[in-house]
Amino acid sequence: MTDKLIIFDTTLRDGEQSPGASMTKEEKLRIARQLERLRVDVIEAGFAASSNGDFEAVKAIADAIKDSTVCSLARANDRDIARAAEALRGANRARIHTFIATSPLHMEKKLRMTPDQVYEQARLAVRFARNLCPDVEFSPEDGYRSEIDFLCRVLEAVIDEGATTINIPDTVGYAVPELYGHFIKTLRERIPNSDKAIWSVHCHNDLGMAVANSLAGVKIGGARQVECTINGLGERAGNCALEEVVMAVKTRRDYFGLEVGIDTTQIVPASRLVSQTTGFVVQPNKAVVGANAFAHASGIHQDGVLKARDTYEIMRAEDVGWSTNKIVLGKLSGRNAFKQRLQELGIVMESETELNTAFAKFKELADRKAEIFDEDIIALVSDESVTP
Ligand code: KIV
Ligand code: ZN
Repeated sequence: MTDKLIIFDTTLRDGEQSPGASMTKEEKLRIARQLERLRVDVIEAGFAASSNGDFEAVKAIADAIKDSTVCSLARANDRDIARAAEALRGANRARIHTFIATSPLHMEKKLRMTPDQVYEQARLAVRFARNLCPDVEFSPEDGYRSEIDFLCRVLEAVIDEGATTINIPDTVGYAVPELYGHFIKTLRERIPNSDKAIWSVHCHNDLGMAVANSLAGVKIGGARQVECTINGLGERAGNCALEEVVMAVKTRRDYFGLEVGIDTTQIVPASRLVSQTTGFVVQPNKAVVGANAFAHASGIHQDGVLKARDTYEIMRAEDVGWSTNKIVLGKLSGRNAFKQRLQELGIVMESETELNTAFAKFKELADRKAEIFDEDIIALVSDESVTP
Protein backbone atom coordinates (compact mmCIF):
# COMPACT_ATOMS: atom_id res chain seq x y z
CA MET A 1 0.00 0.00 0.00
CA THR A 2 1.32 3.48 -0.87
CA ASP A 3 1.66 6.08 1.85
CA LYS A 4 -0.51 9.15 1.73
CA LEU A 5 0.91 12.65 2.05
CA ILE A 6 -1.45 14.93 3.98
CA ILE A 7 -1.80 18.40 2.47
CA PHE A 8 -2.39 21.03 5.15
CA ASP A 9 -3.22 24.39 3.62
CA THR A 10 -2.53 27.48 5.70
CA THR A 11 -3.29 30.18 3.11
CA LEU A 12 -6.00 31.56 5.38
CA ARG A 13 -3.77 31.70 8.47
CA ASP A 14 -0.04 31.90 7.72
CA GLY A 15 -0.73 33.16 4.19
CA GLU A 16 -2.86 35.94 5.59
CA GLN A 17 0.09 37.00 7.79
CA SER A 18 1.65 38.32 4.59
CA PRO A 19 1.68 42.14 4.85
CA GLY A 20 -1.21 43.47 2.78
CA ALA A 21 -2.94 40.11 2.34
CA SER A 22 -5.60 40.41 5.00
CA MET A 23 -9.00 39.04 3.95
CA THR A 24 -12.61 39.54 4.99
CA LYS A 25 -14.74 36.71 6.35
CA GLU A 26 -16.57 36.41 3.01
CA GLU A 27 -13.30 36.29 1.07
CA LYS A 28 -11.93 33.62 3.40
CA LEU A 29 -15.07 31.56 3.05
CA ARG A 30 -14.83 31.73 -0.72
CA ILE A 31 -11.22 30.57 -0.66
CA ALA A 32 -12.08 27.81 1.85
CA ARG A 33 -14.73 26.47 -0.54
CA GLN A 34 -12.16 26.43 -3.34
CA LEU A 35 -9.69 24.62 -1.04
CA GLU A 36 -12.39 22.04 -0.38
CA ARG A 37 -12.88 21.62 -4.15
CA LEU A 38 -9.12 21.20 -4.40
CA ARG A 39 -9.57 18.46 -1.78
CA VAL A 40 -6.93 19.61 0.67
CA ASP A 41 -6.94 17.40 3.74
CA VAL A 42 -6.73 20.20 6.31
CA ILE A 43 -7.69 23.87 6.00
CA GLU A 44 -6.10 26.09 8.65
CA ALA A 45 -8.87 28.67 8.67
CA GLY A 46 -7.28 31.24 10.99
CA PHE A 47 -6.28 32.08 14.51
CA ALA A 48 -9.60 32.26 16.36
CA ALA A 49 -8.30 34.04 19.48
CA SER A 50 -6.45 36.74 17.54
CA SER A 51 -9.55 38.90 16.83
CA ASN A 52 -13.32 38.72 16.75
CA GLY A 53 -13.13 38.92 12.97
CA ASP A 54 -10.86 35.90 12.77
CA PHE A 55 -13.03 34.00 15.25
CA GLU A 56 -16.07 34.63 13.03
CA ALA A 57 -14.16 33.59 9.90
CA VAL A 58 -12.98 30.32 11.48
CA LYS A 59 -16.51 29.65 12.71
CA ALA A 60 -18.10 30.35 9.30
CA ILE A 61 -15.58 28.04 7.60
CA ALA A 62 -16.04 25.31 10.23
CA ASP A 63 -19.82 25.48 9.72
CA ALA A 64 -19.63 25.44 5.91
CA ILE A 65 -16.86 22.99 5.04
CA LYS A 66 -17.76 19.32 5.06
CA ASP A 67 -14.97 17.39 3.35
CA SER A 68 -11.75 18.87 4.75
CA THR A 69 -10.66 19.01 8.39
CA VAL A 70 -10.92 22.61 9.62
CA CYS A 71 -8.18 23.83 11.94
CA SER A 72 -7.57 26.88 14.11
CA LEU A 73 -4.24 28.04 15.46
CA ALA A 74 -3.95 28.75 19.20
CA ARG A 75 -1.07 29.81 21.43
CA ALA A 76 -0.28 27.33 24.15
CA ASN A 77 -2.68 28.75 26.72
CA ASP A 78 -6.18 27.80 27.88
CA ARG A 79 -7.90 30.96 26.63
CA ASP A 80 -6.64 30.63 23.05
CA ILE A 81 -7.35 26.91 22.96
CA ALA A 82 -10.88 27.28 24.35
CA ARG A 83 -11.59 30.03 21.80
CA ALA A 84 -10.34 27.80 18.97
CA ALA A 85 -12.52 24.93 20.17
CA GLU A 86 -15.55 27.22 20.33
CA ALA A 87 -15.01 28.52 16.79
CA LEU A 88 -14.61 24.95 15.52
CA ARG A 89 -17.70 23.57 17.25
CA GLY A 90 -19.73 23.23 14.02
CA ALA A 91 -16.99 21.42 12.07
CA ASN A 92 -17.43 17.93 10.69
CA ARG A 93 -13.79 17.32 11.54
CA ALA A 94 -11.90 19.83 13.68
CA ARG A 95 -8.26 20.26 14.63
CA ILE A 96 -6.68 22.50 17.24
CA HIS A 97 -3.14 23.55 16.37
CA THR A 98 -1.28 24.84 19.39
CA PHE A 99 2.25 26.20 19.44
CA ILE A 100 4.97 27.68 21.63
CA ALA A 101 8.52 28.68 20.73
CA THR A 102 11.32 26.32 21.76
CA SER A 103 14.51 27.91 20.38
CA PRO A 104 16.90 29.45 22.94
CA LEU A 105 16.58 32.82 21.19
CA HIS A 106 12.78 32.89 21.22
CA MET A 107 12.45 31.51 24.76
CA GLU A 108 14.90 33.98 26.24
CA LYS A 109 14.28 37.15 24.24
CA LYS A 110 10.65 36.85 23.15
CA LEU A 111 8.84 34.70 25.70
CA ARG A 112 11.19 35.50 28.61
CA MET A 113 10.60 32.00 29.89
CA THR A 114 12.94 29.27 31.03
CA PRO A 115 13.06 25.99 29.08
CA ASP A 116 11.36 24.22 32.00
CA GLN A 117 8.48 26.70 31.91
CA VAL A 118 8.09 26.24 28.15
CA TYR A 119 8.16 22.46 28.56
CA GLU A 120 5.42 22.61 31.19
CA GLN A 121 3.25 25.05 29.23
CA ALA A 122 3.48 22.93 26.06
CA ARG A 123 2.49 19.78 27.95
CA LEU A 124 -0.46 21.39 29.73
CA ALA A 125 -1.67 23.10 26.55
CA VAL A 126 -1.79 19.83 24.64
CA ARG A 127 -3.51 18.10 27.56
CA PHE A 128 -6.15 20.86 27.66
CA ALA A 129 -6.62 20.80 23.86
CA ARG A 130 -7.02 17.02 23.83
CA ASN A 131 -9.87 17.33 26.32
CA LEU A 132 -11.68 19.54 23.81
CA CYS A 133 -10.77 17.92 20.50
CA PRO A 134 -9.47 14.48 19.46
CA ASP A 135 -7.26 15.96 16.73
CA VAL A 136 -4.45 18.12 18.17
CA GLU A 137 -1.39 19.40 16.39
CA PHE A 138 1.61 20.77 18.26
CA SER A 139 4.28 23.05 16.78
CA PRO A 140 7.49 24.08 18.51
CA GLU A 141 7.84 27.51 16.93
CA ASP A 142 11.35 28.13 15.54
CA GLY A 143 11.72 24.37 15.97
CA TYR A 144 14.53 24.08 13.47
CA ARG A 145 16.75 26.45 15.50
CA SER A 146 15.95 24.67 18.76
CA GLU A 147 18.43 22.67 20.79
CA ILE A 148 17.77 19.05 19.86
CA ASP A 149 17.85 17.46 23.35
CA PHE A 150 15.35 19.98 24.67
CA LEU A 151 13.15 19.63 21.59
CA CYS A 152 13.08 15.84 21.98
CA ARG A 153 12.06 16.25 25.62
CA VAL A 154 9.18 18.61 24.75
CA LEU A 155 7.94 16.54 21.81
CA GLU A 156 8.01 13.28 23.75
CA ALA A 157 5.92 14.94 26.50
CA VAL A 158 3.31 16.42 24.14
CA ILE A 159 2.92 13.09 22.33
CA ASP A 160 2.33 11.48 25.73
CA GLU A 161 -0.35 14.10 26.35
CA GLY A 162 -2.06 13.07 23.13
CA ALA A 163 -0.77 15.32 20.32
CA THR A 164 -1.73 13.54 17.10
CA THR A 165 0.44 15.61 14.73
CA ILE A 166 3.90 17.02 15.42
CA ASN A 167 4.85 19.86 13.11
CA ILE A 168 8.43 21.14 12.86
CA PRO A 169 8.49 24.75 11.68
CA ASP A 170 11.46 26.32 10.01
CA THR A 171 9.94 29.61 11.12
CA VAL A 172 12.58 31.89 9.64
CA GLY A 173 13.47 29.89 6.53
CA TYR A 174 17.00 29.10 7.75
CA ALA A 175 17.11 25.41 6.83
CA VAL A 176 18.76 23.73 3.85
CA PRO A 177 17.15 20.60 2.42
CA GLU A 178 19.53 17.85 3.49
CA LEU A 179 19.99 19.21 7.01
CA TYR A 180 16.27 19.77 7.54
CA GLY A 181 15.46 16.28 6.27
CA HIS A 182 17.99 14.75 8.67
CA PHE A 183 16.74 16.93 11.52
CA ILE A 184 13.25 15.42 11.16
CA LYS A 185 14.72 11.93 10.82
CA THR A 186 16.81 12.35 13.98
CA LEU A 187 13.83 13.60 15.98
CA ARG A 188 11.74 10.63 14.87
CA GLU A 189 14.53 8.20 15.70
CA ARG A 190 15.35 9.66 19.10
CA ILE A 191 11.85 10.17 20.48
CA PRO A 192 10.63 6.82 21.84
CA ASN A 193 6.90 7.45 21.20
CA SER A 194 7.40 9.22 17.84
CA ASP A 195 5.35 6.73 15.86
CA LYS A 196 2.22 7.67 17.83
CA ALA A 197 2.04 10.97 15.89
CA ILE A 198 2.06 12.04 12.27
CA TRP A 199 5.10 14.19 11.49
CA SER A 200 4.67 17.40 9.59
CA VAL A 201 6.89 19.99 7.91
CA HIS A 202 6.32 23.75 7.84
CA CYS A 203 8.92 25.72 5.91
CA HIS A 204 9.29 29.41 5.19
CA ASN A 205 10.89 30.68 2.04
CA ASP A 206 13.43 33.28 3.16
CA LEU A 207 16.23 31.60 1.22
CA GLY A 208 13.93 30.35 -1.55
CA MET A 209 14.14 26.75 -0.30
CA ALA A 210 10.74 26.19 1.35
CA VAL A 211 9.56 23.63 -1.20
CA ALA A 212 12.93 21.83 -1.35
CA ASN A 213 13.15 21.75 2.45
CA SER A 214 9.60 20.41 2.78
CA LEU A 215 10.27 17.68 0.24
CA ALA A 216 13.49 16.72 2.05
CA GLY A 217 11.51 16.54 5.29
CA VAL A 218 9.22 14.09 3.54
CA LYS A 219 11.81 12.04 1.70
CA ILE A 220 14.65 11.94 4.23
CA GLY A 221 12.75 12.65 7.43
CA GLY A 222 9.64 10.57 6.80
CA ALA A 223 7.16 13.41 7.39
CA ARG A 224 3.69 12.66 6.10
CA GLN A 225 2.11 16.10 6.27
CA VAL A 226 3.22 19.22 4.42
CA GLU A 227 2.03 22.66 5.47
CA CYS A 228 1.77 25.00 2.51
CA THR A 229 -0.10 27.89 0.93
CA ILE A 230 -1.53 28.68 -2.48
CA ASN A 231 1.05 30.60 -4.57
CA GLY A 232 3.44 30.29 -1.60
CA LEU A 233 1.68 33.23 0.05
CA GLY A 234 2.99 34.09 3.51
CA GLU A 235 4.95 36.29 5.82
CA ARG A 236 8.15 37.87 4.39
CA ALA A 237 9.21 35.65 1.45
CA GLY A 238 6.26 33.32 2.00
CA ASN A 239 5.59 29.67 2.75
CA CYS A 240 6.04 26.45 0.85
CA ALA A 241 3.90 26.63 -2.33
CA LEU A 242 1.13 24.03 -2.39
CA GLU A 243 1.03 23.76 -6.18
CA GLU A 244 4.76 23.05 -6.38
CA VAL A 245 4.90 20.48 -3.64
CA VAL A 246 1.81 18.64 -4.92
CA MET A 247 2.99 18.55 -8.53
CA ALA A 248 6.51 17.50 -7.49
CA VAL A 249 5.14 14.54 -5.55
CA LYS A 250 2.74 13.60 -8.35
CA THR A 251 5.15 14.11 -11.24
CA ARG A 252 8.00 12.31 -9.43
CA ARG A 253 5.89 9.57 -7.90
CA ASP A 254 8.67 7.22 -9.00
CA TYR A 255 10.95 8.96 -6.45
CA PHE A 256 8.59 9.91 -3.61
CA GLY A 257 6.26 6.89 -3.79
CA LEU A 258 3.44 8.87 -2.18
CA GLU A 259 -0.20 9.59 -2.95
CA VAL A 260 -1.85 12.98 -2.59
CA GLY A 261 -5.62 13.37 -2.52
CA ILE A 262 -5.60 16.73 -4.34
CA ASP A 263 -7.79 17.37 -7.40
CA THR A 264 -5.01 19.03 -9.36
CA THR A 265 -7.39 20.48 -11.97
CA GLN A 266 -8.46 22.93 -9.25
CA ILE A 267 -4.94 24.30 -8.75
CA VAL A 268 -5.02 27.14 -11.30
CA PRO A 269 -8.53 28.28 -10.25
CA ALA A 270 -7.31 28.33 -6.61
CA SER A 271 -4.21 30.29 -7.58
CA ARG A 272 -6.27 32.83 -9.52
CA LEU A 273 -8.76 33.24 -6.68
CA VAL A 274 -6.06 33.84 -4.06
CA SER A 275 -4.23 36.26 -6.33
CA GLN A 276 -7.40 38.25 -7.16
CA THR A 277 -8.52 38.30 -3.53
CA THR A 278 -5.22 39.47 -2.06
CA GLY A 279 -4.01 41.55 -5.03
CA PHE A 280 -0.72 39.58 -4.99
CA VAL A 281 0.26 39.07 -8.62
CA VAL A 282 1.66 35.67 -9.62
CA GLN A 283 4.99 36.07 -11.41
CA PRO A 284 4.77 34.85 -15.04
CA ASN A 285 7.55 32.30 -14.63
CA LYS A 286 6.16 30.85 -11.38
CA ALA A 287 6.16 27.04 -11.52
CA VAL A 288 2.81 25.41 -12.32
CA VAL A 289 0.59 28.52 -11.98
CA GLY A 290 2.56 31.28 -13.72
CA ALA A 291 1.22 32.46 -17.09
CA ASN A 292 4.36 31.14 -18.81
CA ALA A 293 4.51 27.80 -16.99
CA PHE A 294 3.21 25.97 -20.08
CA ALA A 295 4.09 28.54 -22.78
CA HIS A 296 6.62 27.83 -25.52
CA ALA A 297 8.30 30.65 -27.40
CA SER A 298 11.36 29.20 -29.07
CA GLY A 299 10.98 27.66 -32.50
CA ILE A 300 12.85 24.49 -31.57
CA HIS A 301 10.67 23.92 -28.50
CA GLN A 302 7.48 24.73 -30.42
CA ASP A 303 8.39 22.26 -33.12
CA GLY A 304 9.10 19.60 -30.47
CA VAL A 305 5.89 20.21 -28.56
CA LEU A 306 3.79 20.16 -31.74
CA LYS A 307 5.26 16.75 -32.56
CA ALA A 308 5.04 15.33 -29.01
CA ARG A 309 4.16 17.43 -25.98
CA ASP A 310 6.36 15.52 -23.58
CA THR A 311 9.47 16.68 -25.47
CA TYR A 312 9.31 19.89 -23.42
CA GLU A 313 6.47 19.35 -20.92
CA ILE A 314 6.81 17.20 -17.81
CA MET A 315 3.23 17.92 -16.72
CA ARG A 316 0.02 18.53 -18.67
CA ALA A 317 -1.32 22.07 -18.49
CA GLU A 318 -4.85 20.62 -18.43
CA ASP A 319 -4.01 18.50 -15.37
CA VAL A 320 -3.41 21.57 -13.23
CA GLY A 321 -6.40 23.53 -14.52
CA TRP A 322 -5.15 25.44 -17.58
CA SER A 323 -7.35 25.05 -20.67
CA THR A 324 -4.29 24.11 -22.73
CA ASN A 325 -0.60 24.75 -23.16
CA LYS A 326 0.43 27.83 -25.15
CA ILE A 327 2.48 28.31 -28.28
CA VAL A 328 3.50 31.95 -28.20
CA LEU A 329 4.13 33.25 -31.68
CA GLY A 330 7.04 35.67 -31.85
CA LYS A 331 10.42 36.16 -33.50
CA LEU A 332 11.74 32.81 -32.26
CA SER A 333 8.85 30.80 -33.69
CA GLY A 334 9.37 28.41 -36.54
CA ARG A 335 7.39 27.63 -39.68
CA ASN A 336 5.75 24.62 -38.09
CA ALA A 337 4.22 26.60 -35.23
CA PHE A 338 3.04 29.27 -37.67
CA LYS A 339 1.43 26.67 -39.92
CA GLN A 340 -0.29 25.04 -36.94
CA ARG A 341 -1.75 28.37 -35.81
CA LEU A 342 -3.08 29.05 -39.32
CA GLN A 343 -4.83 25.69 -39.23
CA GLU A 344 -6.32 26.42 -35.80
CA LEU A 345 -7.63 29.71 -37.15
CA GLY A 346 -9.18 27.93 -40.14
CA ILE A 347 -6.93 29.77 -42.61
CA VAL A 348 -6.19 27.72 -45.71
CA MET A 349 -2.98 28.25 -47.65
CA GLU A 350 -3.33 27.26 -51.32
CA SER A 351 0.30 26.32 -51.83
CA GLU A 352 3.67 25.97 -50.13
CA THR A 353 4.76 29.17 -51.87
CA GLU A 354 1.83 31.05 -50.35
CA LEU A 355 2.70 29.63 -46.93
CA ASN A 356 6.34 30.65 -47.34
CA THR A 357 5.39 34.18 -48.29
CA ALA A 358 3.06 34.49 -45.31
CA PHE A 359 5.74 33.08 -43.01
CA ALA A 360 8.29 35.59 -44.28
CA LYS A 361 5.85 38.43 -43.58
CA PHE A 362 5.19 36.99 -40.13
CA LYS A 363 8.93 36.89 -39.30
CA GLU A 364 9.32 40.46 -40.48
CA LEU A 365 6.45 41.56 -38.24
CA ALA A 366 7.76 39.50 -35.31
CA ASP A 367 11.03 41.41 -35.41
CA ARG A 368 9.06 44.57 -34.65
CA LYS A 369 6.45 43.17 -32.25
CA ALA A 370 7.13 41.07 -29.13
CA GLU A 371 4.07 38.81 -29.40
CA ILE A 372 1.99 38.10 -32.45
CA PHE A 373 -1.71 37.70 -31.76
CA ASP A 374 -4.33 35.89 -33.83
CA GLU A 375 -5.63 39.23 -35.14
CA ASP A 376 -2.14 40.04 -36.47
CA ILE A 377 -2.03 36.76 -38.37
CA ILE A 378 -5.48 37.24 -39.85
CA ALA A 379 -4.53 40.73 -41.02
CA LEU A 380 -1.19 39.50 -42.34
CA VAL A 381 -2.65 36.81 -44.59
CA SER A 382 -5.93 38.48 -45.48
CA ASP A 383 -5.03 39.27 -49.12
CA GLU A 384 -3.48 35.90 -49.90
CA SER A 385 -5.64 33.33 -48.15
CA VAL A 386 -9.09 31.87 -48.02
CA THR A 387 -10.61 32.58 -44.60
CA PRO A 388 -13.85 30.97 -43.41
O1 KIV B 1 6.23 29.55 11.10
C1 KIV B 1 5.79 29.15 12.18
O2 KIV B 1 6.53 28.84 13.12
C2 KIV B 1 4.34 29.04 12.32
C3 KIV B 1 3.86 28.27 13.50
C4 KIV B 1 2.84 29.02 14.24
C5 KIV B 1 3.39 26.93 13.07
O3 KIV B 1 3.61 29.48 11.48
ZN1 ZN C 1 4.72 29.79 9.59
